[in-house]
Amino acid sequence: MYMLEQEFVWWKHGVVYQIYPRSYKDTTGNGVGDLQGVIEKLDYIASLGVSAIWLNPFFASPMVDFGYDISDYYMVDPLFGNNTDLLLLITEAHKRGLKIILDMVLNHTSDQHPWFTEARSSKDNPKRDWYVWRDKPNNWESIFGGSAWEKCPFTGEYYYHAFLSEQPDLNLRNPEVVEEIKKIFRHYMEMGVDGFRLDAVNTYYEDAAWRNNPELKEGSDLSSHSVAGQRRVYNYDHYLNYSLLDDLREVTDEYPNRLILGEVGREGKDEHAWKKYYGSCNRRLDLVFNFDLLYGELSGGRFGKTLKAWESLQYCSWPSYALSSHDQIRAISRVIPDQDACPWGNRGKLLAVFLMTVRGTPFVYYGEELGMPEYKGLTDEQIQDPWSIRNNYTVPTRDGCRTPMIWDDSKHAGFSLGSPWLPVHETYKEINAAAQQEDQASMLEFYKELIQLRNGTPALHKGDLEIIIDEGDFLQYRRIADGEVYLVSLNFSAAERTVEDTGKVVLSSDRSVEGIEAYGFEIWKLD
Ligand code: NOJ
Repeated sequence: MYMLEQEFVWWKHGVVYQIYPRSYKDTTGNGVGDLQGVIEKLDYIASLGVSAIWLNPFFASPMVDFGYDISDYYMVDPLFGNNTDLLLLITEAHKRGLKIILDMVLNHTSDQHPWFTEARSSKDNPKRDWYVWRDKPNNWESIFGGSAWEKCPFTGEYYYHAFLSEQPDLNLRNPEVVEEIKKIFRHYMEMGVDGFRLDAVNTYYEDAAWRNNPELKEGSDLSSHSVAGQRRVYNYDHYLNYSLLDDLREVTDEYPNRLILGEVGREGKDEHAWKKYYGSCNRRLDLVFNFDLLYGELSGGRFGKTLKAWESLQYCSWPSYALSSHDQIRAISRVIPDQDACPWGNRGKLLAVFLMTVRGTPFVYYGEELGMPEYKGLTDEQIQDPWSIRNNYTVPTRDGCRTPMIWDDSKHAGFSLGSPWLPVHETYKEINAAAQQEDQASMLEFYKELIQLRNGTPALHKGDLEIIIDEGDFLQYRRIADGEVYLVSLNFSAAERTVEDTGKVVLSSDRSVEGIEAYGFEIWKLD
């Protein structure tokens, strides 16, 4: 049986706030957010009550995939500032009790990384074996479309790239590469970084016999962005992925209280497949990033289904929950597709209550706390996402969830004095952080109240979870810790519901009605 922790563990019981630095706050006027911008906004972030910030990559990069193509792991890209800014950010965040999580892309580098430019130069270059080479391609497809093999003009051989051809895969079978990665980890932990989000951990290793992948059967469950025509049997979830993560765990454990969080692409897998990434009792990854609610329509039934699935894992695998990210359509625009009129209405708040009251670590994507909607209708000229562009715009762009943060009602929503790299959502005049700070009924103030409640209530941040009702449109569960029981009721339907229990209401969508209104919610402390 799970033993309740006595203390508040930041990555487990606290809330993580995800920042896409390019879009958060620009202090130089070049239209792109930067690290100084994040520093400037630290008080705002701390006021949310979150425990940690996960920053998408800001390392030196040609930015073909906006930083997920690193050309120097030890340098902040000049677009985002410099290494001194990073040090300052860590120090200032820590002063405010905020932890810093870096995004580590270890599956691949940029094709501009000196390791690769050396490796491709000749077959006998000492760095040759740092990447994955073959004299002829097999049928593997890149996640971003097309063959996963690119012919190298210098040697005639093909290199493997799970993503873009500008993102060649590192050969993680080579111990020198693994040693280099460990060095990078130690470097940042020495600097005071509190954890790493590991990009695409399920694509680390490939089949050594290069077997062709089977064709995809009709009706398979694919994520909304996938363009694959095959099941990625031989280049996904290789058993060696787990042993590299064990190595990384060991390095991370050299420093106290550090987190490793893995992005494990969904690819039709169920939660049991993810258990391997957790290892036994979180001894591998601390957290696996949960994709279940990140894509598709968010009808009531999906919340109960996800909850059940994750609760069916052993208690050792501490869940994580996210509704939005830099790769998927923002949740608020998936529950209220025609929304714009009242983005912080009940349905937005209902999402927040789910996120903050389930057993697991919640991730809040910048702007989510404001009910910031997806930017829809970007024109082909405005689209920047290579995934979409390389597929002739047939793949939905990821730019709609990456538009600039809406700080106030001034020009460009206070994001930049220059011309923003993506357009600012047109609703910024009404929906912005400054306006919401002044409005007790706003989404922002609600988020703060909710996170405060969660942080201060052991049952909500660390308690057991028991599902009481799961009727699709109505979900009710208890959270239990230290002899206290809280009841959470979420009404995803347009009809009013009643709650049968005795206790005190601690949070409610409308305290003046008897039952729970349409799309309403209640949190009770039970007697
Ligand atoms: C997953 C990241 O979330 C995504 O944004 C990126 O394009 C790919 N990995 C490639 O690194």
